[in-house]
Amino acid sequence: MKISIINGPNLNMLGVREPDIYGDLTLSNIEENCQKIAQEFTIDMDFLQSNHEGELIELIHQAYHDNVSAIIINGAALTHTSIALLDALKATNLPIFEVHISNIHAREDFRQHSYISAIAEAVICGLGDEGYYAAMHAIIKKYK
Ligand code: DQA
Repeated sequence: MKISIINGPNLNMLGVREPDIYGDLTLSNIEENCQKIAQEFTIDMDFLQSNHEGELIELIHQAYHDNVSAIIINGAALTHTSIALLDALKATNLPIFEVHISNIHAREDFRQHSYISAIAEAVICGLGDEGYYAAMHAIIKKYK
């Protein structure tokens, strides 16, 4: 079993970026924690990040070709703007678990609409980095 975890723009700046909102952990810290869960349950995992919309679309297509069981995606700001990202996710026909570190519904108006949510199997937001681990556990329980 394999899970693809895909992170959008500016998430490479976690740890430095607005720590009051996004916490102190870096994206590498979160990746290490996800890797531990993958090892514990003996599954494979890709943990990916890009600041470029087109590259994210390629990573989503690659997840399909890699036959992953599910995609965990934090689309970051592209969540709120990108129909192309939505279409790429839709094209895979895979279970999509949308994760946001912050509670996007308690923030600015422009963050309250997600193009991804309409096709997501689950949406987790506001749990901080725990959202990634919760999504992994849910996928493992449901699909392994
Ligand atoms: C985010 C929320 C988005 O609104 C924002 O643009 C991000 C991060 C989150 O994880 O809370 O970059 O997706």
